[in-house]
Order: sequence, then structure tokens, then C-alpha cells
Amino acid sequence: MKQKRVHIVTMGCQMNVYDSEQMLRLLAPLKYRPTSELEKADLILLNTCSIREKAEHKVYSFLGRLVRVKQRRPDIIIGVGGCVAQQEGYRLVERAPHVDIVFGTFALGRLPSLVRQVQDQKKQVVDINPRGASEPLYVKGPVFKAERATAFVTIMEGCDNFCTYCVVPYVRGREVSRKPEEILEEIRLLVENGIREVTLIGQNVNAYGQKNGHGCDFPSLLEHVNDIEGLRRIRFTTSHPKDLSDRLIDAFCRLDKLVPHIHLPVQSGSDRVLRRMNRGYARDFYLKKVEKLCNVRPDIAITSDIIIGFPGEERVDFEATVHLVRQVGFDSLFLFKYSDRPGVPAARFSNKVPEAIKGERFSTLLEVQREFTLKKNKALVGTTQEVLVEGPSKKSVDQLTGRTPCNRIVNFTDGADSMVHVGQILPVRIVEAFSHSLLGDPGGEGHGEYSGENGGISHAARNESFGFDY
Ligand code: SAH
Ligand code: SF4
Ligand code: F3S
Repeated sequence: MKQKRVHIVTMGCQMNVYDSEQMLRLLAPLKYRPTSELEKADLILLNTCSIREKAEHKVYSFLGRLVRVKQRRPDIIIGVGGCVAQQEGYRLVERAPHVDIVFGTFALGRLPSLVRQVQDQKKQVVDINPRGASEPLYVKGPVFKAERATAFVTIMEGCDNFCTYCVVPYVRGREVSRKPEEILEEIRLLVENGIREVTLIGQNVNAYGQKNGHGCDFPSLLEHVNDIEGLRRIRFTTSHPKDLSDRLIDAFCRLDKLVPHIHLPVQSGSDRVLRRMNRGYARDFYLKKVEKLCNVRPDIAITSDIIIGFPGEERVDFEATVHLVRQVGFDSLFLFKYSDRPGVPAARFSNKVPEAIKGERFSTLLEVQREFTLKKNKALVGTTQEVLVEGPSKKSVDQLTGRTPCNRIVNFTDGADSMVHVGQILPVRIVEAFSHSLLGDPGGEGHGEYSGENGGISHAARNESFGFDY
């Protein structure tokens, strides 16, 4: 079989990043190798996100650009997978007739046979059928050896929470947890291949194992992962506040590899809005969880998501959100303007907030958070942080980049005789602070492995940037 090339464009959350790697594994037996150059690809795959209207628009505008590519090279195969594919199905090929394959989130495992069908029969295929009972959630196969130190590992798929604004339960289905043995085996394999930090991912990781009865809940899973030799750091995301148990909070104190950072989306500071969102907790409940976390791990970084302009959000509701943001003092916030999604209950709610008001509220809250973030980052100047080296920095070719345990990005320049390598944990002195990153200097501390606990970050000095783009 002739060697071929696949170019994957990944949009959306970490779940999609993970799924794109699975696509590469699935396509390897068909002799497809990854290429970063779209022009050289025989197969172009878009792994899409439907969380907000803007994300969906991005898919169609990218597909618009591919019309010309397909005209020039009619043999190229274009596939659309992920959450928009699952949501749109046949509508997608009607709107974009140059697409050859539409494969929904449950059809991922069937991608090789869909590609073969297009290759052999030269016809369009759409597969948004459910996952077959015997089809696994995870595809075993080679680990692609890009030089990297961190990896995502999906531990559960889907969501049962049905927040009234959210499309995820419809495009990813009901909650299913993977077996603990399978997850641990995958992490061991990653560690053997140089990975030093894993992020366990799922829409609501705190609910891991509650439904499937694998005899292992999330805190127990974390304990097992913590025992894996060679692994240095564990992260997880996303946590739903209503399922954040005391045992999980205690894990931040008990487990040495669990980093002091939690992403805990609050969505709103108003009880009335939280009820209409069907979040299952009130403002005070959330604040109590934050207090417990800070008691157990005073250096913990807390980041969050907030939706601005949920239908019916009044000025007082928004002020309650601003108040909560000031009270908690988040390290970083992801702010989203509410947008209607097809089929979700909130799309039918009346009292939609006008775009102009959403815009004003968005800027107000952004400004409040920016001050916090910068203040917290500046408080770090002069301290030494433990940085896991991830690779070259995006900002400059001469710089390396890594993250602190609290997930702050640190860029630093290394000497010409450098022995620093990807996957190493280094002590780096912080010399300058910006709103999205820190500038560090590894000089003077030696380049030995550093095993300090948290590098002296105080709670009042938490930071920005969770590092993903929904
Ligand atoms: N499972 C995670 C979040 C997944 S979606 C959780 O429950 O926390 C990521 C974020 O997108 C959400 O936290 C929410 O803030 C935002 N979001 C989801 N649906 C949205 C919508 N219709 N409009 C605007 N933001 C939305
Ligand atoms: Fe969506 Fe809510 Fe589930 Fe998160 S918990 S994925 S916001 S339904
Ligand atoms: Fe987007 Fe699907 Fe993730 S809708 S946020 S890619 S689960």
C-alpha cells in the first residue's frame, strides 16, 4: 500500500485533541502518516466543536476555504468529525457538498472503514450512528513520538448533567467511564514514551465511575495514577462543583503528584441564574467548596468559566457574578457570551439579553479579572518556580516554555551550552510578569532536577491561563 498523508485540524476542547490522536492511530494501518502541511495531504480531517455558535461558524468558514483545494485536487478526501458532525449529519453535506465523510463523535472507531468506502466507491458517506456495543472508547496503537512531555487521557465520555445552555449531552451522549485498568495501562505506556504529566479529561471527571460500577471512583483512580513510576504531575479537568467531594478535595493534600490547580466552572454568581441553568448548586455552596480547597491546599490555583448574558440575566444577577469573582479572586477566568445551541432548553427561553449588553458586561468582568491576574502574576516576580519544560516557546524561537504546577506559562531563554530538554523539571527564577505568562531565568540555580513542593506560591499569588481554547 502506498504511503499517504493526513492533515488533521482540531478545534474545541481537550477531548477533541485526544480524539484526533486516536484518529491518527486508527489511520496508521491504512498507511496514513500525519502531516502539518494541508497542501501535502491526501486526507484532510476537521475535528469540530459545537459549544457556541462561533465555534460552529469556524467550521463552515474553514470548509469554505477548502472548496478551492478540492477543485484543484479532486482526489483529496475531506472528512468532518466531532461535535458539529454529530449535530448536523446530512445537513453538513448539503451545506458543504465538497465534504466526502461526515463522522459523528460515536463513529470515530469506524473512521478507517469510512475512508476505505470513499477511496473505493468514490461516494459521500455520513455516519452519525451510535457507538456499537462492542466498540471501545479507546483505540490501542502506537504512541506518536513527537517530542513532548504532557498528554491528555480521556477517562470518561459524555455528560448526564443537562445544563440548559449546553449541547454536550446531545453531541457526546450519556456519561460513560472507561475501565480503570485500561486508563492506567495507557498512562504507563505514555510514561514509557517520555510523558511526564498527564491531564485526565472528561466533561465531569468528579463523577468518574459513579455509574458504571468499575469499583473505582475518581479519588481512587487518582491514587492509582499517583503510584505510576516515572510520572511527575497529574492534572484533571473538568470538575463540576456539585460533585466535588471532600475525599477529592483531600486528594490535593494527600497525593504528591497532583498539582495545586483546579478548574471549577461556576458559570454565574446569581442563584436565580444558576437555577435556570440547572447547575444543581447555589452560590454559597460553590464558595464553601472554594474555602475547603484553600484550607486543604493554601497554594491552590482556582480557574473558572463564566457565561455572560444567559437568557433572563438582569443587572443584579450580573453584579452578583462580579461580586463572586472579586470574592474568590480566581487565577484566571474563561468568559463566554451566551449563545443559543440547537435543541437545548435555553434556546427556547424568553428574555434573551441583547448583544450590546452582553458586550458591556463582558468587558466589565474582563477588566475586573485582568487586574487580579496581573497582580497575582506580579507577586511571583523574584520567586523560584518549578517548571516542566514543554518545548520551544510560541513567542520566540530562542525561548523555551513550560508550566508551573499551578499552570502558569513560563518562557525562558536557555544558555548556548544548554542541557535542558523537554520533560525536565527545572527551577526557574521569575523575572517579569505579564497577563498571560511569566518570563523566567533558569541561570544560577543549576539545571538539576528540582523536587520542591510548590515553589512558594501563595494563595494571593495565583495565576492566569489554563491553556486551552474551547
Ligand atoms: N463540562 C464542562 C464544560 C464544558 S463546555 C463543565 O461543565 O464545566 C465549556 C464551557 O463553555 C462551559 O463551562 C460554559 O461556560 C461554556 N458554554 C457552554 N455552552 C455555552 C453556550 N451555549 N453559550 C456560551 N457558553 C457556553
Ligand atoms: Fe455541559 Fe453542564 Fe455537562 Fe458541562 S456539566 S458538559 S456544561 S451539560
Ligand atoms: Fe466542543 Fe464537543 Fe468539546 S462541543 S467543547 S469539542 S465536547
